[in-house]
Amino acid sequence: MSEKYVGRPVDRLDGAIKTVGEARYAGDHRYPDLAHAALVHATIPRGRITAVEDAAARAVPGVIDVLTHENAPAMKPPPKVTLLNLSTLAIGTSVNHLATDEVHWNGQPIAVVVAESQEAARHAASLVRVTYEEKPAVVDFAAEEPNAVPQKSNALQSARADKGDAEKALADAEVSVDLRFTTPQHSHNALEPHTTTAVWDGDRLTVHEGTQSMAWTRRHLAQRFGVPERNIRMLSPFVGGGFGGKGQVWAGTLLAVLAARATGRPVRLALTRAGVHHAVGGRTPSAQRVALGADRDGRLTALIHTSVARTGRVGGHLEQITAASRHLYDSPNIHLRQSLVQLDLIANTSMRAPGESIGTFALESAVDELAWELGMDPIELRMRNEPERDPIEGRRFTHRMLREVYAVGAERFGWSERDPRPGSMRDGKWLVGMGVATAYHPSLQMPASVTVRLDADGGVVVRCALHEIGVGAATAQAQIAADELGVPLESVRVEIGDSDLPEGPMAGGSAQTASAASAVLEACRKLRRSALDLARRSAGSPLRGATDPRARDGGLYQDGRGETYAEILARAGRDHLEARAGVGMLRFLARTVREQRRWMKAASGAQFCEVRVDQDTGEVRVSRWVGVFDIGRVINEKTVASQLRGGIVMGIGLALTEETLVDRRTGRVVNASLADYHVPVHADVPRIDVHCLDDPDPTMPLGLVGVGEVGITGVGAAVANAVRHATGRRVQDLPITLDKLL
Ligand code: MOS
Repeated sequence: MSEKYVGRPVDRLDGAIKTVGEARYAGDHRYPDLAHAALVHATIPRGRITAVEDAAARAVPGVIDVLTHENAPAMKPPPKVTLLNLSTLAIGTSVNHLATDEVHWNGQPIAVVVAESQEAARHAASLVRVTYEEKPAVVDFAAEEPNAVPQKSNALQSARADKGDAEKALADAEVSVDLRFTTPQHSHNALEPHTTTAVWDGDRLTVHEGTQSMAWTRRHLAQRFGVPERNIRMLSPFVGGGFGGKGQVWAGTLLAVLAARATGRPVRLALTRAGVHHAVGGRTPSAQRVALGADRDGRLTALIHTSVARTGRVGGHLEQITAASRHLYDSPNIHLRQSLVQLDLIANTSMRAPGESIGTFALESAVDELAWELGMDPIELRMRNEPERDPIEGRRFTHRMLREVYAVGAERFGWSERDPRPGSMRDGKWLVGMGVATAYHPSLQMPASVTVRLDADGGVVVRCALHEIGVGAATAQAQIAADELGVPLESVRVEIGDSDLPEGPMAGGSAQTASAASAVLEACRKLRRSALDLARRSAGSPLRGATDPRARDGGLYQDGRGETYAEILARAGRDHLEARAGVGMLRFLARTVREQRRWMKAASGAQFCEVRVDQDTGEVRVSRWVGVFDIGRVINEKTVASQLRGGIVMGIGLALTEETLVDRRTGRVVNASLADYHVPVHADVPRIDVHCLDDPDPTMPLGLVGVGEVGITGVGAAVANAVRHATGRRVQDLPITLDKLL
């Protein structure tokens, strides 16, 4: 492959239409008789609905129907989540909405109002009066923590690991720290609240929705509504932010489809901002213990990381909080455990680096604290414990460049100018602090299928049901195909966002681009072979004797002789050539298991943070950031940097402001708005210097590893460690609000 486009900061193909507002999201589709739906949310955490009073709602002009468990057509119940049927992982909750009078969390959707306008639907929804028979509910995470149940490992989760005797080594250690950390629940707040437009035509269904998983959503809808998958078309060309919140199927999707079926109208259901908090899962809260023992030289002798997280009683999964602790430090004694409590709250779901984001906060804060105990530079401490092989299982790393990312980061950040004494650096009333932390996220691949077509006019069409969650998904594949076929980028069109296309990977686990790239590469190679075969069979082709031509200038050339694809096709009288590539689920799983036994593969990085802390008020401002990453090969310098920067911004929120406040008596989210749930705004974010080593991973197609999630890992700790340096105070409970520094 000649690398003309891969690596370059190519503008996103979808950039211009987004900028001018021409990109049509799920809520932008008009139908002549479109109706609008709004959800009614339960106001108790657990119990039964005894009566629904909907007369006032029905009296609102424009209201078409009020659907409740008393009158709605029932959906089939959600199937059990099983590893044998991976699409069941798309199930957000086991509750069969509107088919039961039971309430399982405060905020659970219990009715849908359908009206001629969104305003009428929402107003009418506010008038539905529901009475309940309440049952006792368990909603207080902190109070339940002592009852946490240790979890078992399985194919999807690693809940425990042991090496040596970590507790004994900790007790015997020359130097040690033993710290408890807590992190709060987080809610999804993507720019685009979850929106579904559902249109039935007989037993055929079209769904416009910004989702991270068209294939799994379609499979799930087919099951719930009893129609064949081929009858359902998901259209999802744009996703206004996903972060894991659009990876599973939640009430909004199901109830839009149900409302459309019940009313015989196309229905749009756009969740309100509060509705997202109530009807879509978020990040688990956590309580964690990290204990580290070391000798005086800073060599770790013990590493203990245990966590308690939560699910809902009606859904959720174990977030991988101790994941990074399996791979980051070479200690002869390691003990890792993850435990869960089940609460009467909405299920948790994935949210950018689920587990790793908050797990690295605890681990990397503790490592920093150990450096203080040792009087050692925290980078030096990390380098002394850099393993040769994966610490617990002894697998080889495919790629391990933490020494390099720290060296580059220290240089770019100016780490050597840090005066190590706490509180020693000042800027007027501001105490200045510098902190570092390691970023780490295991690499994942998923099955993907693509077709690539060469047209008689020289154009190339790549087709794959990819999800555009804001990362430039199509642009990256266009760059790869253009290089592999030797054609100008402008002649490549990538069709994505439609479930009628070959099935793409889910946009999750930082896996989409690498997974699709592997199939795109294979299809392009097949196409080149077919084109060459075609040329060699036709009399007069300058490629008749060619054995190994290069793809360039829109065709194939060897020893200065060759021709364009258009000429090859014309001579053969063909109007196009097409190739398909991709692996099926079984082959894919077999390969994954084989690989995972041999290798440990991950994206990693070093986060460097400078904070300024107001000496009087305790206000923390992040004033500088340098992130240096090893994500294998960089396909697009611009989009990669943007993704990593986005992760760091989200991490600044995690460190300083984000917190879902759950009323301990009622289980209600009480700050379900952007006014009360604080995500970072421009004024909270400094210029962020992102740099990637751009060294290909030898085991991956094109050498790329995955970018989406690593950016947020380590960020919470880098901020906390900088605050520790500025103030001498170790904050162990996120977010680091000013009350914790006074
Ligand atoms: Mo993600 S948290 O795998 O979208």
